[in-house]
Amino acid sequence: MITLGTPLSPSATKVMLLGSGELGKEVLIALQRLGVETIAVDRYDNAPGHQVAHHARTITMSDPVQLKALIEAERPHLVVPEIEAIATPTLQALEAAGVVRVIPTARAARLTMDREGIRRLAAETLGLPTSPYQFCDSLEELQAAIDAGIGYPCIVKPVMSSSGKGQSKIDGPADVKTAWDYAMSGGRVGPGRIIVEGFIDFDYEITQLTVRALGADGQIETHFCDPIGHVQVGGDYVESWQPYPMTPTALAESRRIAKAVTDDLGVGHDGQPSGLGLFGVELFVKGDQVWFSEVSPRPHDTGMVTMITQWQNEFELHARAILGLPVSTALKSPGASAVIYGGVEAQGIVFDGVDEAMRVPNSEIRLFGKPESFVKRRMGVALVHDADVEVARTQAKLAAAKVKPRLA
Ligand SMILES: Nc1ncnc2c1ncn2[C@@H]1O[C@H](COP(=O)(O)OP(=O)(O)OP(=O)(O)O)[C@@H](O)[C@H]1O
Ligand SMILES: [Mg+2]
Repeated sequence: MITLGTPLSPSATKVMLLGSGELGKEVLIALQRLGVETIAVDRYDNAPGHQVAHHARTITMSDPVQLKALIEAERPHLVVPEIEAIATPTLQALEAAGVVRVIPTARAARLTMDREGIRRLAAETLGLPTSPYQFCDSLEELQAAIDAGIGYPCIVKPVMSSSGKGQSKIDGPADVKTAWDYAMSGGRVGPGRIIVEGFIDFDYEITQLTVRALGADGQIETHFCDPIGHVQVGGDYVESWQPYPMTPTALAESRRIAKAVTDDLGVGHDGQPSGLGLFGVELFVKGDQVWFSEVSPRPHDTGMVTMITQWQNEFELHARAILGLPVSTALKSPGASAVIYGGVEAQGIVFDGVDEAMRVPNSEIRLFGKPESFVKRRMGVALVHDADVEVARTQAKLAAAKVKPRLA
């Protein structure tokens, strides 16, 4: 494990979060509770995590020069990526030079930063079941891939995008150009490559939170949380709940896939399987059949439900695992989460109805403190625990709906 010191002193254990949104904020809080000195980095001032860290820094994390300069100036013991849009080759170079340790590994950050690296690893290297797919650089290539076997319906996504941006479903030939144009407008780095995937007609989808943590003997052990069910609208999560009742066969297959992917992503530049931390493995399930979709080598948005369902939530699990501390993935109670969206486009908004929301039995409300609201920006989350997970789902949505963001 990493020896824990005293923050703001020469003995401090320093951790830098690259990305300081609502997920990073919770990881920072978990680290603060262990007396870790925290450095929160984001691309804009007053990000949620900036507000709870010892040090707040604003840089363009996709810029190799800025990223290298900041890491060399701060010299954290650990660098923890919270987002995908980071100059990951810089992290790889700094890790290889022994300047810093990246969580779980710089290689994992690189492979998951776009859809191509992780999809090829899962499907082609590890032989895991995925949707049929093809990468395309033009409308002509997209049409050819569909005609050659992907077929209809299918889904088009920019390789560099998240939260459903630029993503759409193609039901027939008339939709192909629209989907291409939409993907070109929604990618993170402007026009570029897309993945087209055959549509999986799944019964449900889950996130399998998976933790690589040190055991008592110093060996890395893999721990699984109970499966999290979720609903996505337009590629963005709106509600999640835990546990999701799965057949034993589907659960075992989900964990086999999760273990294979996280074992591989845990291997660093030196070939050692030393990567620690929590992963969110996204899976599609139909009967006993399971498909790998994608993985976050970090806490997952649908995993916010664990703030009310687990003794150690996903952020605490991540914080403990990366420091080399023991973890427990035990469930405390079934429960659910529902997203609170901004609903308005403005800075410095206010929230009506928080009291009403908190009157929903067994509920908690989290407001992230984002300086600017957009109609579809996630500004908070409602959490509810209940012995009956379906009751928790209904009540979480009720509580979320009672919070009414408005202009100040
Ligand atoms: N091949 C597919 N077949 C059926 N549904 C799909 C497929 N690919 C994606 N989806 C649906 O779209 C959602 C978002 O897809 P995906 O996770 O690939 O996008 P994303 O932009 O990375 O989203 P996020 O960042 O929120 O995880 C999935 O959770 C699933 O509901
Ligand atoms: Mg996803």
